Amino acid sequence: MAEGVSCNNIGPVILLGPPGAGKGTQAKRIAERYGIPQISTGDILRDNVARGTDLGVKAKAIMGRGELVPDDLVCDMVATRLRSADCERGFILDGFPRTAKQAGWLDAFFEGEIFDKSHGDRCLPIVIRLDVDYNQLVHRLSGRRTCSANGHIYNVYTQPPRVADVCDIDGSALIIRKDDREDVVQERLRVYDVQTRPVAEYYEQKGRLVSVNGDLPMDQVTGQMFWVIEHHSVHAD
Ligand code: AP5
Repeated sequence: MAEGVSCNNIGPVILLGPPGAGKGTQAKRIAERYGIPQISTGDILRDNVARGTDLGVKAKAIMGRGELVPDDLVCDMVATRLRSADCERGFILDGFPRTAKQAGWLDAFFEGEIFDKSHGDRCLPIVIRLDVDYNQLVHRLSGRRTCSANGHIYNVYTQPPRVADVCDIDGSALIIRKDDREDVVQERLRVYDVQTRPVAEYYEQKGRLVSVNGDLPMDQVTGQMFWVIEHHSVHAD
């Protein structure tokens, strides 16, 4: 059997959906319930920007405009992360893939490196798309506050912290993400329509896409996600 990443247990979960759909919120809950890591390309990129790495320097202005970071940079970053030992039991990709090229790259990566240690056959990702009304997305992003230390997510309308602008969990300051400015949000939503919506269609054609109503209250969305994860097959037919 080839060396590589195992998909025992949960297998890979891919979360798709527009900015503000609730990917980060739900990914954290899935990670906690199943003990698997959340791999958020947005979080990794923001961390690189904050640390001033070469990748962060290249990504900073692009992210500030609400555009996508070049595919080759993001794919290299994801490959490194997926080869970490903590991905062996499964993982959640939050915000990747986002272009047709990234989706093709990920398929090739799964083909070559993701396998099931116990069965020896190929395992397939479950792809969940959160569908949310456009006006709701804009509203949510206008109210989002993010923990500056660990990325915990709040919302002044629907999920306020106990003390204004302070994270309930670690006490650090809550910030407004730079790309949550209204003009940048409009661009991010436009980019999603043009570049990422076709990725969902790509998985739909392969019969791997499950849509979840992300307009519902958070706990109801979480319930749907858990159900989907626990009732899908990770193995190729
Ligand atoms: P990224 O960080 O991935 O941002 P995004 O995809 O735009 O998604 P968001 O983080 O804005 O929203 P979310 O769906 O996670 O929603 P959340 O749970 O926070 O990417 C940022 C940038 O990095 C990109 O623009 C790009 O430049 C770059 N990048 C990242 N990945 C890349 C890639 N693969 N390729 C190239 N470039 C890449 O929820 C939003 C708010 O709503 C919160 O306040 C939350 O409390 C609230 N909320 C959540 N669910 C509900 C609910 N059910 N009801 C009511 N409120 C809710």
